[in-house]
Amino acid sequence: MATELQSRCEPHHVAIIMDGNGRWAAMRGQPRSAGHRQGVEALRRTVRAAAELGIGVLTLYSFSTENWSRPAAEVRFLLDLLRRFIRTDVAELHKSNIRIMVIGDRDGLEPSLRKLFEEAEALTRENSALKLVIAFNYGGRQEITRAVRALAQKVARGEILPADITPDVIGNHLDTGGLPEPDLLIRTGGEQRLSNYLLWQCAYTEFVFMPDYWPDFDADRLRQAVADYRMRDRRFGGLTAQSA
Ligand code: FPP
Repeated sequence: MATELQSRCEPHHVAIIMDGNGRWAAMRGQPRSAGHRQGVEALRRTVRAAAELGIGVLTLYSFSTENWSRPAAEVRFLLDLLRRFIRTDVAELHKSNIRIMVIGDRDGLEPSLRKLFEEAEALTRENSALKLVIAFNYGGRQEITRAVRALAQKVARGEILPADITPDVIGNHLDTGGLPEPDLLIRTGGEQRLSNYLLWQCAYTEFVFMPDYWPDFDADRLRQAVADYRMRDRRFGGLTAQSA
């Protein structure tokens, strides 16, 4: 019974808002780019730690639809970092049986970046250890809008009726269709908001907010967040033994 209860409490899908790179760098008198560079190291540590912990899905907010409004040089730097990360790490991730998936709007992205995403996804498609979901050019409202449009088109073509549209159907039309909803969302950097991340999917997600800046994130902090999650009483709007 104890084992059953324990395994029920393990987070299968962990989503992270990797915040605080700029402040981490500013504290050290370094340019923001230095914080982003260290952010990639933290990301590598986190992927390894998540795989070791047996987490099934790790979704990372790497670039939001709103991040385009940053200075052009920073946007270019972040795009280059992502490009370099995929190019240099894809073989290692593949060897570790990790599947790469990218969510977000790909329309209007540079063709070379789209190709990189497609190749990484195709190479790792059959891997089963951990799904590493990279949210790039991602916004929750935009994702929901795209799903609603796709469904409206199906109705217009007579393929489905309005009454066929259920929460499950909407969920399956999101970029994350087929993935379980996040059990645990971690945000570093001290802010306590969702910032347009996984709005639909986080209806019953447990949140852990940490003051630490993302470049300092590591296996210990991930384990600490998971330990915090294990203490939560997830009721999904109902009652559990603890609350009845
Ligand atoms: C938030 O810090 C972080 C981002 C906007 C980007 C996250 C990117 C990385 C961790 C590195 C690149 C990613 C990949 C997938 C290779 P911030 O810049 O908003 O920090 P601040 O709030 O302190 O200014």
